[in-house]
Amino acid sequence: MKSLENKTVFITGAASGIGLALARVCGSAGMSVMLSDIDDVALHAAVECLRAAGVDCDSVVCDVAQPAAMRHAAEVTIQRFGKVHFLINNAGILVIGGASDNSLDTWRRVMDVNVMGVVHGVDAFLPLIRSHGEGGHILNTASVGGHVAYSAVLAYSTSKHAVVGLTEALAEELRNENIGVSALCPGFTRTQIVSAMTSSSNFASDENQTLGFENAVENGMSPDVVARYAIEQVQQGALYIFTHPRTRDEVSRRSKLIEAAYEKAECSDLLREDPDAYRSLNVAGINVPSQ
Ligand SMILES: NC(=O)c1ccc[n+]([C@@H]2O[C@H](COP(=O)([O-])OP(=O)(O)OC[C@H]3O[C@@H](n4cnc5c(N)ncnc54)[C@H](O)[C@@H]3O)[C@@H](O)[C@H]2O)c1
Repeated sequence: MKSLENKTVFITGAASGIGLALARVCGSAGMSVMLSDIDDVALHAAVECLRAAGVDCDSVVCDVAQPAAMRHAAEVTIQRFGKVHFLINNAGILVIGGASDNSLDTWRRVMDVNVMGVVHGVDAFLPLIRSHGEGGHILNTASVGGHVAYSAVLAYSTSKHAVVGLTEALAEELRNENIGVSALCPGFTRTQIVSAMTSSSNFASDENQTLGFENAVENGMSPDVVARYAIEQVQQGALYIFTHPRTRDEVSRRSKLIEAAYEKAECSDLLREDPDAYRSLNVAGINVPSQ
């Protein structure tokens, strides 16, 4: 989606942080912006702020974990702006803790918001983007934690790996439909993500670890820079959008471990006994990603 002017974007988690910054960048590029968030007070303030800056925008309260709320938000967007071209699945929550720290209810909430929220967005908005034939884009906010697994945020990292996988598969599915798909994979960014976690009575976490994350986020990148780079990359049709070059080594370390595991498999006499181990994949409907 090279040109943004006179098109419409719908953004989840748009009342704060990266979502609000994305709304600003899209608005200043001449898009109509539908902001949505679970926090109605912050959402109202965000809309006022954007309108004061001359952005054509409106808002709808929506908990992305609720499919009916997402469908309602999609209907309101069409009623208000007629068409939608750009879906930004950005809402997300952070929970700190490893395998023995988080309750199953916490796991479920993280998956419901961070993963099913994206699924609900695609379910409600993809048919609308397809329907007008003008093309469009879907941007999913994942994280560098969707490529590198961090034990201190096990549930969060698990959810973000799912977002990356979903994004890659969707990009492949929409390859010939003039609808681009990207995964935004930031590192620490200066937002409310840790304070949102600590102010929620549902999520208990280790005080020292929380302080460490608080410090990292407070010293993180500006959400405005993350958003400006993200939209520039969307316009270039990038699949992966990494905003923190210093996280490259961590991602490379994982790739190297995978390469090493394959090298070991290729040297295995046991695996060589089975001809399927080396037969090339040729199954209808399974494509190797092109990017
Ligand atoms: N801040 C970082 O360091 C960082 C790094 C990598 C990825 N991310 C990702 O960026 C995205 C945005 O987070 P942020 O850092 O701007 O945090 P933030 O807390 O400042 O903003 C998140 C927004 O999402 C909203 N939200 C939370 N749960 C919701 C729900 N169920 N339905 C709708 N809205 C909901 C919040 O009310 C808030 O306005 C998240 O997906 C997060 O995982 C953040």
